[in-house]
Amino acid sequence: MPGFSSKNSDLGRIVNFFEILFRKGISLNIKVSASILNSDLSAIGAEAAKADIAGADWIHFDVMDGHFVENISYGAPVQKALSKRLFIDTHLMVTHPHTQIKLFAESGSNMITFHVESESDIDHTINKIHRAGLMAGLAIKPATPAESVFPFLEKVEMILVMTVEPGLGGQEFLAYTLPKISAIRKKADEVKPDLMIEVDGGITGDTAPLVKKAGADVLVSGSYLYKAKDMFMAMHTLK
Ligand code: DX5
Ligand code: ZN
Repeated sequence: MPGFSSKNSDLGRIVNFFEILFRKGISLNIKVSASILNSDLSAIGAEAAKADIAGADWIHFDVMDGHFVENISYGAPVQKALSKRLFIDTHLMVTHPHTQIKLFAESGSNMITFHVESESDIDHTINKIHRAGLMAGLAIKPATPAESVFPFLEKVEMILVMTVEPGLGGQEFLAYTLPKISAIRKKADEVKPDLMIEVDGGITGDTAPLVKKAGADVLVSGSYLYKAKDMFMAMHTLK
């Protein structure tokens, strides 16, 4: 009965749609940005779509230049291959991010985050991102003090607090970064209450409650999601 089975799959799709809405609605204020760095890169497009279907709000695209960090990951042409439908949260771990803005803006980024420790002029790079029509984020490594991003809180949409050393997926969460998240949240509440704080590295079902309590509202998660038997459930646990 072909009609019946097609109805069945339509019904399946509707149930799936509401399940995604339900899961996304559980904590509207907490976003999950799925890092595809440790996914199956031979099928990167399908892996990004898998996280989207499982309820990820954003796809986190980690760019490494072999200079700011030791590894080289992938660049704008690979990002361009991802579906235009996805919200792409580009994390530039590169020494000269200002040279990359145009390329990534043309390759699907919705948000571009670069490091306060990079060698580009911070104000100039933020302006370049905004002029390209995108949201701007500023990232901070674990050992860099919170105060280094304070002058820029009103100028960006998001601060990314690294909760591991940048350069690799699958590392252990560094708990000493928690007071820094709280310090940035406190300062942001004074000067820019709608500033988003993203955390990146070692985010799992165990560490998510700690970072949320400290004031994070966007959780990057890679290996925890991609290693999970049920990515829906893992997403639900994070939120
Ligand atoms: C590390 C990257 C992270 C990393 C997160 O340099 O910025 O985005 O992929 O991966 P997990 O969640 O495995 O720590
Ligand atoms: Zn990242």
